[in-house]
Amino acid sequence: MAAAPKTIPRHIAIIMDGNGRWAANHGLPRIKGHEKGADAVRACVEACGELKVEYLTLYAFSAENWQRPKTEVFALMRLLEKFLKEKTAELLEKNVRLQAIGRLTDLPLNCQRQLHESIERTAGNDGLTLVLALSYGARLEIIDAIQSLLREIEAGHIDKAMINPDLFSKHLYTRYYPDPDLLIRTSGELRLSNFLLWQLSYTEIYVTPKLWPEFGKEDLRAAVADFAQRQRRYGVV
Ligand code: FPP
Repeated sequence: MAAAPKTIPRHIAIIMDGNGRWAANHGLPRIKGHEKGADAVRACVEACGELKVEYLTLYAFSAENWQRPKTEVFALMRLLEKFLKEKTAELLEKNVRLQAIGRLTDLPLNCQRQLHESIERTAGNDGLTLVLALSYGARLEIIDAIQSLLREIEAGHIDKAMINPDLFSKHLYTRYYPDPDLLIRTSGELRLSNFLLWQLSYTEIYVTPKLWPEFGKEDLRAAVADFAQRQRRYGVV
């Protein structure tokens, strides 16, 4: 096992891509790729806990993913519910606090119930915070933030002159978390796919050709080691 690099990102965000391609490569139905992807989630959570990463945000289901065939959407929702049901005990044991961002009320009711139960049960943990992005779209999040600011203005709680990047950030779903330091995208695609558009402004990006179901602990460690070599400048010389 590679030694942990000195500079550990506080917050890692991951676009978990390539489940479908992994399944096709193995002559399996797409859902088998998602199931294998859920195993990779477990490994990454473990690796982040070991490295003392504070926040891990996973793009588990995008607002656009609802447009996939009904059978795949249904299977993904069932997988999510099963994952939460089966893994909450392990999250408790590993001191992981579960959170979620996105339009969560779009999820089927039994998924919402299980999600809230898992969030509540792990609320007292103070190790890694695992944030699942579910029915999440960054443009929708920005629109929701604008609506929230407008409500505050109409209620007379703030004046429009007070709007600045800090205040805006406080109206995003991610208001409780620092911006990601490192974004990992698997399966080689070079795009953000409507993920955390505001929050990724100064994030270091790491793209690997590996498909998500093949992405293991050592791959996460390699991404963190690569991050440790970067010089972050935030636009300053
Ligand atoms: C992208 O692969 C992946 C998803 C749309 C869903 C991510 C879901 C998981 C990793 C499993 C469940 C997660 C949890 C938290 C239990 P793709 O289907 O777009 O792959 P492709 O581009 O190769 O078709």
